[in-house]
Amino acid sequence: MGSGVRLLVLGKQGAGKGTQAVRIARHYGVPHISTGDMFRAAAAARTPFGLKAKEYMKRGELVPDDVVIGVVAERLAKDDAVDDGFVLDGFPRTRVQAEELQRLLGPGGLDAAVDIDVPTEVVLDRISGRRVCRTCGATYHVDHPPKVDWLCDKDGGDVVQRDDDKPESVQRRLELYEQDTRPVLEFYDGLNLLATIDGVGDPDDIFGRILDGLASVGRSPLPAPPAPQ
Ligand code: AP5
Ligand code: MG
Ligand code: ZN
Repeated sequence: MGSGVRLLVLGKQGAGKGTQAVRIARHYGVPHISTGDMFRAAAAARTPFGLKAKEYMKRGELVPDDVVIGVVAERLAKDDAVDDGFVLDGFPRTRVQAEELQRLLGPGGLDAAVDIDVPTEVVLDRISGRRVCRTCGATYHVDHPPKVDWLCDKDGGDVVQRDDDKPESVQRRLELYEQDTRPVLEFYDGLNLLATIDGVGDPDDIFGRILDGLASVGRSPLPAPPAPQ
């Protein structure tokens, strides 16, 4: 049983949303819901939806709002998210998505949004070195590879470069961030739900800053995380 917290992790491409959302989810005992991971899993399973999403992702374009909203609404209706709460990673990234999420959850439905703030030159370096497990999505970096021969530490899957981590797609993703996703930060700031965190430095330090930031916004204080089993 989780803590019931409902959180969002925002930030530009390569800011460390996935890296930190995993820790936040573990800390609060809630599911980590990443739209990017869901789309990549659907693409790997070669479902009609997955193959379509893959075309958008490869080019660095956003998947259309109505499609993303449908996928997220379905996921948030599952028991674990309803009972335990969630940490959303990579959603919302347009103003329309943010408004729709607000409608879906109702007033007071969200506890806080964290923006992991990292300068563009730093994210470019992180993305160019990133490698991910084809099976489970675990993230590595050329400077922090898996222990054995580019095989995932967790499940032995192949660890490869993401299709959309090539320079042309990265450029497009960062443009779309400025155009479509910046307004989402303003939206949550206007609701007094936004905590902006300096995302440069050691991942453990950044996680500490996130917990401090979460304590300073939104529903305060956040429920305590569940006791370790
Ligand atoms: P998504 O998978 O969400 O990609 P993204 O937003 O581009 O973000 P990333 O996953 O690239 O970065 P991250 O912030 O998770 O960083 P990470 O922790 O990996 O979305 C992919 C695509 O799906 C989109 O382009 C779009 O097409 C589609 N999509 C998804 N959601 C959508 C939506 N809502 N609407 C429409 N379309 C949608 O870290 C990056 C690297 O840095 C790693 O190598 C990591 O090891 C390293 N690192 C992390 N933290 C640190 C640190 N503190 N110091 C040094 N290195 C670090
Ligand atoms: Mg990610
Ligand atoms: Zn793996």
